[in-house]
Amino acid sequence: MSRAQQEQKLKEQICDIGKRMYMKDMGAANDGNISVKISEDSLLCTPTGVSKGFMTPDMICKINSKGEVIEENAQNTSPSSEIKMHLRVYQERPDVKAVVHGHPLHATAYAICGKPLNKQIMPESTIFLGEVPVAEYGTPSTEELPNSIVPYLQDHDAILLANHGALTCGIDLMNAYFKMESMEFYAKLLFLTSAIGEPKELTDEQVSTLVQLREEKFKVPGRFPSLKSFQK
Ligand code: 13P
Repeated sequence: MSRAQQEQKLKEQICDIGKRMYMKDMGAANDGNISVKISEDSLLCTPTGVSKGFMTPDMICKINSKGEVIEENAQNTSPSSEIKMHLRVYQERPDVKAVVHGHPLHATAYAICGKPLNKQIMPESTIFLGEVPVAEYGTPSTEELPNSIVPYLQDHDAILLANHGALTCGIDLMNAYFKMESMEFYAKLLFLTSAIGEPKELTDEQVSTLVQLREEKFKVPGRFPSLKSFQK
């Protein structure tokens, strides 16, 4: 596949993910943004101020690692207002190739209440997320937001943003997007089980076994909080 074809495929994938986020209550109206690294100094990212549920590939922006447009697109769109936050993730985490920011309904409700997703209630969320911390509030589009996530970036691929939403990152677009989906499912489960009664948590031993499985058998890519940090 030529470079141009690869880029076109990534643009289509960004649009597809945007549509799913919009349909799955992870980004109302114009909310959310997505980016992917295509070389050391170039990225594709969603345009600002448009619904991520209705994007077409010719709206996707091509930028450099400073966030400057390096190739105009057919729709003359400008990069996401949150691009600084995405760029900070790539700076701090050279292993990351894609970043997704959304306002998933249940996870954002936890972020607004300042409650991390830290109850180990289900094997998949323990394996794929561990726990999800809440970063301090930062004004959208300013340096405050990138600064707020730095303390969590080395050990987490999924972070709640206080009074705002959530951010996930991964080794490719699907990996970053699936973490957003898993996190929202986990938040919904926590919310529902807390409404029904007291969610029964996995024991420390069960959690250790799952973490061992993640590392030795599933070899899940990404960064996760240490076992100690989420054992009771
Ligand atoms: P953009 O449309 O500029 O990416 O902003 C959407 C958003 O969710 C801001 O937090």
